[in-house]
Amino acid sequence: MILTDKIDPIPMLPRWYRIRRRQDELPNIVTFELEEADNSNRLLFSCGQFNMLYVFGVGEIPISISGDPDHPEQMVHTIRAVGNVSNALCGMQPGAVLGVRGPFGRPWPLDQAEGKDLLLIAGGLGLAPLRSVMHYVSAHRQNFGRVTLLYGARTPEDILYRVDCERWRARLDLDVVVTVDRASERWRGSVGVVPKLIGRAFFEPLNTLAFVCGPEIMMRFVVNELERCGVPCEQIYISMERNMKCAIGHCGHCQYGPTFVCKDGPVLSYIRVRDLLFKREI
Ligand SMILES: Cc1cc2nc3c(=O)[nH]c(=O)nc-3n(C[C@H](O)[C@H](O)[C@H](O)COP(=O)(O)OP(=O)(O)OC[C@H]3O[C@@H](n4cnc5c(N)ncnc54)[C@H](O)[C@@H]3O)c2cc1C
Ligand code: FES
Repeated sequence: MILTDKIDPIPMLPRWYRIRRRQDELPNIVTFELEEADNSNRLLFSCGQFNMLYVFGVGEIPISISGDPDHPEQMVHTIRAVGNVSNALCGMQPGAVLGVRGPFGRPWPLDQAEGKDLLLIAGGLGLAPLRSVMHYVSAHRQNFGRVTLLYGARTPEDILYRVDCERWRARLDLDVVVTVDRASERWRGSVGVVPKLIGRAFFEPLNTLAFVCGPEIMMRFVVNELERCGVPCEQIYISMERNMKCAIGHCGHCQYGPTFVCKDGPVLSYIRVRDLLFKREI
């Protein structure tokens, strides 16, 4: 497992990265593989951490690292175009250069999950920070009990990382269920929201760690269902998103009650944020 507390010695200074490969995932979602422009270094990261990606003259945004932590030379990010910076990023082509600061934040507690069942629950683009977990778990499968991925997309056309999902599903030692909210005529898979899959999955609740990432409303339903199924709340972890500027706990932009999402998160123990998660507009 790659160490987590490695923060860039000059955390506000971006390094220059070049886009090596561009993969158009969905009409408004692009995955980039980046390489350091002068090839001098590799940015080690842990599953669940994020980088600040900087487009010159436009701005900087936090984006999860969705690549394989065993291959840090391939720095992979998946970006949905929703506004100024993300639109500029999604317009970039191989060879273009951007700034990268990071990696930042607390990762998924994979060390605590060793020997236990692992339940990964993702909605929409929430699969991005869990994809690195799937890479890690696939390569170190013997360290974990039963591993289940439950992934929900809006429609079959919105399924992210389709090739990865099919590859993971083909493995006999991983349980992978993909569900959609609304099916097309040709869809033969599961239909319904992702929390409904939890009760049908095989895991030993008291010996399970659950990692959850997706829209906040989905995470609320998921944690309710996990608790109903007997998973203790201290064994549930969620990944939060908030607006960020510094990413090192200085500016307060990402404050969530007493928590700074950039340095205390983005992966947070559910027990730590339980009261806030069910309050609106925080
Ligand atoms: C730790 C962390 C990890 C993240 N990982 C990823 C990732 O892997 N991939 C990714 O695409 N995004 C990720 N995000 C979200 C991403 O940072 C935001 O989408 C981005 O900051 C938007 O900036 P912008 O300048 O493009 O849009 P802005 O100009 O800031 O916003 C434009 C409009 O988009 C809306 N908007 C902003 N953010 C979102 C959002 N997340 N979803 C829907 N609408 C939004 C705003 O309300 C506004 O109306 C992550 C955020 C955090 C905090
Ligand atoms: S982004 Fe500045 S404190 Fe978190």
